[in-house]
Amino acid sequence: MPGVWAVVVAAGRGERFGEPSRPPKQFAELDGVRVVDRAVLTAQSVCDGVVVVLAEGVAWDGPAVDAAVTGGATRSASVRAGLDVVPDDCDVVLVHDAARPLASRAVFERVIDAVRAGADAAVPAIPVADTVKEVERGRVVSTLPRDRLVVVQTPQAFRTVVLRAAHADGPDATDDAALVEAAGGAVAVVEGDPRNLKITTPADLTVASALLQSTAGTMKEGS
Ligand code: CTP
Ligand code: MG
Repeated sequence: MPGVWAVVVAAGRGERFGEPSRPPKQFAELDGVRVVDRAVLTAQSVCDGVVVVLAEGVAWDGPAVDAAVTGGATRSASVRAGLDVVPDDCDVVLVHDAARPLASRAVFERVIDAVRAGADAAVPAIPVADTVKEVERGRVVSTLPRDRLVVVQTPQAFRTVVLRAAHADGPDATDDAALVEAAGGAVAVVEGDPRNLKITTPADLTVASALLQSTAGTMKEGS
C-alpha cells in the first residue's frame, strides 16, 4: 500500500529504565495498554502502513501491523531494518519511538503535512525550559542561547528516498533527522507536544499515567 508508512522502533533494551528482569520499557503497561501498543495504534490511525521493529527472538503480539521485523544493535540499525520492508512506492515515511506512547495524531499529521509541503524531513519540537550549558571535564565551556534551542521528538517524517539515502552507508545517530541534516537536506520544524514524553525511567511511566488521567478528566468535564 503506497502513501505514508510508519516505522515504529521497539528493539531497544531499555537499559536506563533498570529492572533488567522485566521485559523492556516499551512492553510495560500504561493504564492497561502497553506503551508500544499505544504508539502503534496512533501510527495506524494516521498511516497507510505500519512496520514494528523488535529485538531478536521477540514475537509481535500487539495490534495487527503490516510487518514485524528484527532490529539491530543500534537505533539506526533498527530503523534500517524497518525501512527495508517499506514499499518502494511509499513517498512519505515516519520513524517513531515505541517508547513514546502519548504522541498525538495531531503531531503525526503536522510532520506529514510539512513533508507533503516540500520539506525533506520534519521534526516536532518544543522550546527548551531549562538553560543548557556545554560542559567539558566537569567545567562549563559555554552557555547556549536558549531562545535558539528546541528539544525534538518523534514521530519524524521524511521523503522516503531521502531517508533511504541518509541511511545508505549505515551511519549511526540518535535521531534520523540528524542524518538528513548532515546530508544537506531541508529539515522543517513543526510544533511538538509537551505531553509526548519518551519513557526512559520508571518515573516517566508515572508521569505518563498522570497525563492520561488528566486528559480523561478534561474530556469528562468537556462532555
Ligand atoms: N531502539 C531500537 N533498537 C535499538 C535501540 C533502540 O529499536 N537498538 C528503540 C527503542 O526501543 C525506543 C527508541 O528506539 O523505542 C528510542 O530509544 P531509547 O529511548 O534510547 O530506548 P532504549 O535504547 O531501549 O533505552 P536505553 O537507551 O535506556 O537502553
Ligand atoms: Mg537507547
